[in-house]
Amino acid sequence: MNQQATSGRVGVFCVGMGAVASTMIAGVELARRAGRVPVGSLSELGAVPGEAAERRWADVLPLAPLDALVFGGVDLIETDAAGAARTAGVLDAADLAATADFLATVKAGRGLHDPGYVRLLPAVRARPETGKRAQLGAMVREYRAFFAGAGCARGVVLLTLSTEAWRDPGELHATPEAFLAAVDRDDPAVSPSQLYAWAALEAGYPVVNCTPNPVLDAPAIVTFAERRGLPIAGSDLKSGQTYMKTIVGAALGKRLLGVHGWFSTNILGNRDGLVLDEPQNFRAKEITKGGVLDDLLDAKRHPELYAGMEHQVHIHYYPPKGDNKEAWDAIQLFGWLGYGMELKINFQCRDSILAAPLVLDLARFIDLAAQKGAAGVQSWLGNYFKNPAPRPGEIPTNDVHVQLAALERQLLAWR
Ligand SMILES: NC(=O)c1ccc[n+]([C@@H]2O[C@H](COP(=O)([O-])OP(=O)(O)OC[C@H]3O[C@@H](n4cnc5c(N)ncnc54)[C@H](O)[C@@H]3O)[C@@H](O)[C@H]2O)c1
Repeated sequence: MNQQATSGRVGVFCVGMGAVASTMIAGVELARRAGRVPVGSLSELGAVPGEAAERRWADVLPLAPLDALVFGGVDLIETDAAGAARTAGVLDAADLAATADFLATVKAGRGLHDPGYVRLLPAVRARPETGKRAQLGAMVREYRAFFAGAGCARGVVLLTLSTEAWRDPGELHATPEAFLAAVDRDDPAVSPSQLYAWAALEAGYPVVNCTPNPVLDAPAIVTFAERRGLPIAGSDLKSGQTYMKTIVGAALGKRLLGVHGWFSTNILGNRDGLVLDEPQNFRAKEITKGGVLDDLLDAKRHPELYAGMEHQVHIHYYPPKGDNKEAWDAIQLFGWLGYGMELKINFQCRDSILAAPLVLDLARFIDLAAQKGAAGVQSWLGNYFKNPAPRPGEIPTNDVHVQLAALERQLLAWR
């Protein structure tokens, strides 16, 4: 039993109730009602390091107990988590049947739609407000109504919506004042993800960006989080192929082996894959996935090993694969005297099965940060992201060992 378990419900609001959100919610419910092991969740299974007695993080930190979590959200298509889970096709028939009654109670409100950001989805459940200021106000009310209605003592907002068409952050994203002025003039460069994040902070809730959408890349939003005294973390879950890539990349870099080229490709057939079939939406993934090797195979420090290294990332929408993504990496490396070698990685994974425990951890850890009064970017959560946002003055790293050490340090400090 979690001795430090906090009383009261903790709301988890999923902006986008798709494969990742519904798989996470179903897994939490199966852990609660059927005692299923929450495989992959550090917040549930992780042991406190350096202690003789075997204690888990949940024994020493005021992490929201699974029983305290209540779920809600919005979506452009799905009306509840049961429908979302059926569409996603991640869970087998037995798990769907075992959770369908609960998932049907997790309702999704209508979402903010801008076809300039997600063109390929039939957005049948868009909110009626058209102006961005009205949309912002509507989401502030939506969050407050959900958390108050569910009787939550605390709450977190997770951005789990589709990947949006990429737009580089500009002047309007520089300060909160510039951002609000852009909202007021309905500037098309203000994305739905940014409105969702801003509204959450305005309503008083911390935010985790599980998508590659530029939210923490907008200084205006980070500054607003600091001003509101709320934590924020992101971006883009590091679940499968990129997780393996950062482990192997760090291993090659630490041995000072050279790399001529790294070719990554994958096929997937879920709705995420459909949206990524649009070049502007793929661009967002290309940015978060493309940068992960930069500090691991550092061409500035070691031009003799990595200068001119070719790094390509491709994603192909292939419906027969569904959520069971298959990823290949072909790495051309070289060793002593420049002799060449080849390394191949073939990961036949399940995208949302890998992502679900990360999302659960992030919900509980950002809630922990909020309880501790931590404001602004929570870079100690970098291990969870492909594009880990740094705090001002920090240099972000994609080295999982460094990232995990930072996470442990922070959790131990809050013990
Ligand atoms: N599945 C993974 O393992 C994984 C890993 C890393 C990152 N991600 C990212 O997480 C996000 C969610 O992935 P997923 O697999 O659940 O995708 P998904 O397509 O199954 O779910 C996304 C949901 O968001 C909804 N949506 C889209 N735009 C919206 C809007 N403006 N407002 C409200 N709802 C909106 C869609 O209707 C859909 O139901 C994506 O950005 C994806 O790239 C997923």
